Parts: sequence; C-alpha cells; structure tokens
Amino acid sequence: MPVRRGVITLLLLALVACAPQTQQGLASPSPEKKGVSYYTKEVRPLTPEECGRCHYQIYQSLKNSGGKHQGVLCTQCHKEYHVYNPQKKNWSQIMPKCQTCHKLPHGPSVVQCSACHVNPHAPKNIPMSAIEGKCALCHPGPVAELKMFPSKHTEVGCTGCHENRHGYVPKCSDCHEPHVPGQKMADCLGCHPVHSPTRISYPVTTPNQVCGSCHKTEYNHLKERITKHSALTCAKCHPQHGKILACTQCHGKPHSEAMLKRFPKCLQCHIDPHYLPETVKK
Ligand code: HEC
Ligand code: HEC
Ligand code: HEC
Ligand code: HEC
Ligand code: HEC
Ligand code: HEC
Ligand code: HEC
Ligand code: HEC
Ligand code: HEC
Ligand code: HEC
Ligand code: HEC
Ligand code: HEC
Repeated sequence: MPVRRGVITLLLLALVACAPQTQQGLASPSPEKKGVSYYTKEVRPLTPEECGRCHYQIYQSLKNSGGKHQGVLCTQCHKEYHVYNPQKKNWSQIMPKCQTCHKLPHGPSVVQCSACHVNPHAPKNIPMSAIEGKCALCHPGPVAELKMFPSKHTEVGCTGCHENRHGYVPKCSDCHEPHVPGQKMADCLGCHPVHSPTRISYPVTTPNQVCGSCHKTEYNHLKERITKHSALTCAKCHPQHGKILACTQCHGKPHSEAMLKRFPKCLQCHIDPHYLPETVKK
C-alpha cells in the first residue's frame, strides 16, 4: 500500500537524519570539546541600536525627531519592558511616566501629556488639532495684545498665521506687498508689532522713501527743492506717525517778538516746511 510505504520511508529518513547528529551535533558533547564554555563574555545591557533591531520604527523616530530625548537611553525611560501581560492589564503601569523626569512644565492645569505629545519618541511632533484654541494656555502675551489693540490681525486669528505646525512663523510677504521694494521682514516688524500692527513706531533713521511710498507730495517736494530741511529725515520732524513737531521746538524764536506778534504762524511766510520758498535759500 502506498500509504504504508510512505510512512516507512519517512521513518527511514528520520533515522538517517538523526544518526549523524547524535554523533557530531550540539546535542551530545564530544569528549574533545569538554571544558568549552559558551558563557564567558560579560553581558552588557542592550544599547538603543540593539533594541532598534526589533523596534526599528521607534529607533528611527528617535533618530529623526527625538529632539532632546535623543539624550535619553531606551532603558532610562523603560525601566521595565517585555513584561506586558494582557491578562494583568498592566500596560499603563509598565509604561514610562513623563512626570518621573518632568514636573508640570505648562502649569498645574495641564496634566494630560499624551493629549499633545502623542509620541514620546518624537516629543515635539505636536498635532495642530491638539492645541488649536489652546494657545492662551501657554502664550497669554500675544493673545492679550491682539485683544487689547484690535486690528485686522485680530480677525485673522492665531492659526490663520501660525498654520500647519506648532511654532511655524509666517512671513509678512506671505500676505502683503512691501511699501517699497527690498523691505525686509525685520523692517516691517520695526514699525508694526505683528500682534498689534496699527501701533506704529519707527526709528528716526527711517529712510524717507518708506514714508514717501504713501506721502508722495511731501517726499517729492523735499527732494526737488534743496533746502536745509532736505537733509532731515521725515521722522526727525514726525517722530510718531501723524505727529508734527512745532517749528519752535527746533528753531526757538528766530525772529523779533514784534514780528512774531504780527505774524504768529511761521508758515504764513515760510509756506511749506517740505518746500520752503526759494527766497529763504542761502
Ligand atoms: C523619553 C522616554 C522614552 C524613551 C527614551 C523611549 N521610550 Fe519607548 N515609550 C515611552 C513611553 C512614555 C511610551 C508609552 C506610549 C503609550 O502609552 O502609548 C513608550 C512606548 C514604547 C513601546 C510600546 C508602544 C509602541 O509604540 O510600540 C515600545 C515598543 C517602546 N516604547 C520602545 C522603545 C525603544 C526601543 C526605545 C529606544 C530606541 C524607546 N522606547 C525609548 C517613553 C520612552
Ligand atoms: C529580539 C527582538 C527585541 C529586542 C532586541 C527588544 N524587543 Fe522589545 N519587544 C519585542 C517584541 C516582539 C515585543 C512585543 C510586540 C510588540 O509590541 O512589538 C516587544 C515589546 C516591547 C515593549 C512593549 C511591551 C512590554 O512588555 O514592555 C517595550 C516597551 C519594549 N519592547 C521595549 C524594548 C526595549 C527598551 C528594548 C531594548 C532594551 C527592546 N524592547 C528590545 C522584541 C524585542
Ligand atoms: C527618563 C526621563 C524622561 C522621561 C520619562 C521623559 N522625558 Fe522628556 N526629556 C527628558 C530629558 C533629559 C530632556 C531634555 C531636557 C533638557 O535638556 O532641557 C527631555 C526633553 C523633553 C522635551 C523637549 C524636547 C526638545 O527637543 O526640546 C519634551 C517635549 C519632552 N521631554 C516631553 C516628554 C513627555 C511628553 C514625556 C512622557 C511621554 C517625557 N518627556 C518623558 C527626560 C525624560
Ligand atoms: C495642550 C498641549 C500640551 C499638553 C497637554 C502638554 N504639552 Fe508639553 N508642550 C506643548 C507644546 C506645544 C510645547 C512646545 C513644543 C515646541 O517647543 O515646539 C511643549 C513643550 C514641552 C516641553 C519642552 C520644554 C519647554 O517648556 O520648552 C516639555 C518638557 C513638555 N512639553 C512636557 C510636557 C509634560 C510632562 C506634559 C504633561 C504633564 C505636557 N508637556 C503636556 C504642548 C503640550
Ligand atoms: C502647552 C503649551 C503650549 C501651547 C498650548 C501652545 N504653545 Fe506655542 N510654544 C510653547 C512652548 C513651550 C514654546 C517654545 C518655547 C518658547 O519659545 O516660548 C512655544 C513656541 C511657540 C512659537 C515660537 C516659535 C519660535 O520660533 O519662536 C509660536 C509662534 C507658537 N508657540 C505659537 C503657538 C500657537 C499659535 C498656539 C496655539 C495654536 C500655541 N503656540 C500653543 C508652548 C505652547
Ligand atoms: C498676522 C499674523 C499673525 C497672527 C494673527 C498671530 N501671529 Fe503670532 N507671530 C506672527 C509673526 C510674524 C511672529 C514673529 C514675530 C517676530 O519675529 O518678532 C509671531 C510670533 C509669535 C510668537 C513668538 C514670539 C512672541 O511674541 O512670544 C508667539 C508665541 C505667537 N506669535 C503666538 C501667537 C498667538 C497665540 C496668536 C493668536 C492669539 C498669534 N500669534 C497671532 C504672526 C502672527
Ligand atoms: C496670513 C496672512 C497675514 C500675514 C502673514 C500677515 N498679515 Fe497683515 N494682514 C492680514 C490681513 C488679512 C489683513 C487685513 C486686510 C489687509 O489690510 O490686507 C492685514 C492687515 C495688516 C495691517 C493693517 C491693520 C489694520 O487693522 O488696519 C498691517 C499694518 C499689517 N497687516 C501688517 C503686517 C505685518 C507687518 C506682517 C508681518 C510681520 C503681517 N501683516 C503679516 C494678513 C496677514
Ligand atoms: C517706517 C515704518 C514702516 C515700515 C518699515 C513698514 N510700514 Fe507698513 N505702514 C506704516 C505706516 C505709517 C502705515 C499707515 C498706517 C495708517 O494708515 O495710519 C502702514 C500701513 C501698512 C499696512 C496697511 C495697509 C496699507 O497699505 O495702508 C500694511 C498691510 C502694512 N503697512 C504692511 C507692511 C509690511 C508688510 C511691511 C514690510 C514689508 C511694512 N508695512 C513696513 C509704516 C511702516
Ligand atoms: C502705508 C502708507 C503710509 C506710510 C508708509 C506712511 N504713512 Fe503717514 N499717513 C498715512 C495715512 C493713510 C495717513 C492719514 C490717516 C492717519 O492719520 O492715520 C497718514 C498720516 C500722516 C501724517 C499726519 C497728517 C495729518 O494731516 O495730520 C504724517 C505727518 C505722516 N503720515 C507722516 C508719515 C511719516 C513720517 C512716515 C514714514 C515714517 C509715514 N507717514 C508713512 C499713510 C502712510
Ligand atoms: C523740517 C520738518 C519736517 C520734515 C523734514 C518733514 N515734515 Fe512733514 N510736516 C512738517 C510740518 C511742520 C507739517 C505741518 C504743515 C502744516 O501745518 O501745513 C508737516 C506736514 C506733513 C504732512 C501732512 C500734510 C497735510 O497736508 O496735512 C505729511 C503727510 C507729512 N508732513 C509728511 C512728511 C514726509 C513724508 C516727510 C519726509 C519725506 C516729511 N513730512 C518731512 C514738518 C516736516
Ligand atoms: C526737527 C527740527 C526742525 C523742525 C521741527 C523745523 N526745522 Fe527748520 N531747520 C531745521 C534744521 C536742522 C535746519 C538747518 C539749520 C542750519 O543749518 O542752521 C533748518 C533750517 C530751516 C530754515 C532755513 C532753510 C535753508 O535752507 O536755509 C528755515 C527757513 C526753516 N528751517 C524753517 C522752519 C519752519 C518754518 C519750521 C516749521 C514749519 C521748521 N523749520 C521746523 C530743523 C527743523
Ligand atoms: C513775516 C514773515 C515770517 C514769519 C512769520 C516767520 N519768518 Fe522765518 N524768515 C522770514 C524771512 C524773510 C527769512 C529770511 C531772512 C532772514 O534770514 O532773516 C526767515 C528766516 C528764517 C530762518 C532761517 C534763519 C537763518 O539764520 O538761517 C528760520 C530758521 C526761520 N525763519 C524760522 C521761522 C520760524 C520758526 C518762524 C515761526 C516761529 C518764522 N520763521 C516766522 C520770514 C518769516
């Protein structure tokens, strides 16, 4: 019968296969190998890359996005591992606790660490959805500023500018044209604090072209007719936007009391500070 013959063949094969092993294999040590020990080396704790042989993704995660957790060994966090037992339901018990090493960095009300730090092996990868609407928790400054000085930026809202990922900072040029070509973002910020952009302030050295981009007449006048005022920056006479210094703040009283009593306004004769009459030219 073919079936029986098959069984016998198998038995024979098994004998043949086993025979050499009992003579030379590891199962029974030969007399010559007596005294050999496979257990002489000192066992060292597994290194991160050794853990990473099996936990490759986690190793990669730490390698690429671990941030300052790159300075922490797997086993410094995982004091216990390979002890998970579904029957004991001990997962959360054996997993590392952030607060072993960190206090409460965002204040006593923020305790659910993993709600935002979803991956301890990439602790700075924080999904926007986790923090949307919660900026005030950690950045009360900008929130208060946008509220206290309402502008169009208040309507834009935090994530209208800080979009896509936490910490992203937009450029003004993402949304605006500059007043004059070549203006850098640092220049914009010099005049417009971004969270209260209508509170404009500027240094006295601000180039006249910047002002001239909106105030063409004054700019052109000051440039066309060269007087001693042409050497001044706009900002020297207008130290704040919209503010106008009185002539007397720089000139005192250059004419006789009698004359100024009759003509109290300097511009009655000098007409336009940006375009002083030719006659005055020395
Ligand atoms: C800064 C602390 C920290 C370091 C460093 C760290 N882990 Fe973790 N690990 C954790 C925490 C916390 C959890 C629990 C996450 C959870 O409950 O979902 C975890 C979960 C795990 C898990 C189970 C969940 C999963 O994602 O599969 C494994 C496996 C793991 N870590 C392996 C490693 C290995 C391997 C290393 C080193 C290459 C490492 N960890 C380094 C904190 C750390
Ligand atoms: C030879 C492969 C291998 C090595 C090396 C290894 N692990 Fe694991 N580990 C596993 C397997 C398999 C599991 C269970 C399945 C899973 O969760 O991926 C596991 C599960 C885990 C878990 C979650 C469950 C538990 O019981 O803790 C952690 C945490 C963990 N390993 C950490 C480590 C750390 C830390 C190292 C290095 C010190 C390490 N492993 C080295 C194979 C390995
Ligand atoms: C075994 C200790 C340990 C544990 C547990 C631990 N951390 Fe850390 N963590 C550190 C150290 C050390 C640093 C670096 C601190 C420094 O240099 O200022 C750090 C830094 C961080 C940083 C800043 C990362 C960066 O690149 O700037 C974050 C975020 C962080 N941890 C979150 C967590 C969270 C969330 C948990 C829990 C899931 C956790 N940590 C668990 C030790 C730990
Ligand atoms: C509501 C979201 C949220 C929660 C909840 C949260 N964090 Fe954070 N955490 C952040 C953000 C956002 C950062 C800034 C990350 C960056 O610098 O890009 C941060 C930064 C950190 C840092 C870096 C140190 C620093 O202040 O710059 C540590 C450490 C940290 N968190 C630990 C924790 C721990 C521990 C917990 C739980 C007790 C926790 N976080 C809960 C959102 C959160
Ligand atoms: C749980 C706390 C936390 C929350 C919530 C949070 N942040 Fe942050 N944020 C931080 C920490 C910590 C830093 C890094 C330290 C620092 O520079 O202040 C940071 C940094 C920043 C930076 C500066 C990046 C840089 O390069 O200077 C911006 C912008 C920012 N966050 C915007 C936001 C916005 C917008 C929200 C809401 C959608 C938000 N954050 C929610 C904690 C938080
Ligand atoms: C119109 C765009 C815009 C809006 C709206 C906006 N920001 Fe900003 N934010 C910026 C820019 C640009 C910077 C960089 C400023 C700098 O470098 O001085 C910045 C800087 C920051 C910083 C880091 C510097 C700092 O001032 O602490 C934080 C934090 C921040 N913003 C949070 C917020 C929050 C929270 C909101 C909502 C309440 C918000 N921002 C709304 C554009 C915006
Ligand atoms: C994400 C887009 C966005 C970014 C980035 C942005 N803004 Fe705006 N900004 C707006 C919108 C929208 C308005 C309202 C419409 C308009 O005037 O163009 C506005 C208005 C303004 C106003 C007029 C405010 C008012 O209430 O009249 C100033 C000034 C301004 N932005 C300056 C800046 C500066 C400076 C930066 C960079 C530091 C910047 N913006 C970055 C979107 C943005
Ligand atoms: C020297 C100061 C100064 C600099 C630098 C400056 N601005 Fe302005 N900006 C102003 C003044 C003044 C106004 C007019 C405010 C008003 O209408 O009362 C203004 C108005 C605006 C407005 C309102 C809309 C408009 O055009 O009238 C926007 C938007 C704006 N600036 C964006 C920017 C951006 C973007 C930059 C950088 C590329 C920038 N500003 C650089 C002074 C400055
Ligand atoms: C983006 C356009 C813009 C820029 C740039 C700009 N201004 Fe103006 N400026 C205006 C507008 C619009 C007004 C009138 C509305 C107001 O009072 O805010 C004005 C008003 C003024 C006034 C007051 C006029 C009055 O009748 O009282 C002075 C002075 C002035 N600007 C000087 C300057 C100076 C100096 C600079 C450069 C540092 C400058 N401006 C830059 C748009 C601009
Ligand atoms: C020497 C001082 C001085 C300088 C420099 C100066 N201004 Fe003036 N500016 C004044 C005075 C004074 C007035 C008020 C004139 C008046 O009452 O008719 C004025 C008025 C203005 C006005 C309002 C005009 C109106 O018709 O209401 C604007 C806009 C202005 N200046 C812009 C500028 C700009 C832009 C520059 C630079 C290109 C500049 N100024 C340089 C002194 C100066
Ligand atoms: C920020 C200061 C400042 C303000 C404000 C100012 N001036 Fe002058 N002005 C000067 C300076 C500086 C000179 C050059 C003086 C010198 O070289 O002796 C000058 C020169 C003049 C001259 C001589 C012009 C020439 O080319 O010889 C006249 C006229 C004059 N100012 C009139 C006025 C009048 C009128 C006002 C008000 C509408 C005024 N100034 C406002 C600073 C100012
Ligand atoms: C009645 C017309 C008149 C009035 C009003 C007037 N000025 Fe003059 N101012 C002149 C004439 C004309 C000159 C040129 C002749 C000279 O040097 O005396 C002059 C010259 C000046 C000079 C240049 C002087 C020098 O030494 O270079 C300054 C500065 C000046 N005026 C400022 C003012 C100021 C500031 C006021 C207002 C307080 C004012 N003026 C009012 C007619 C006037």
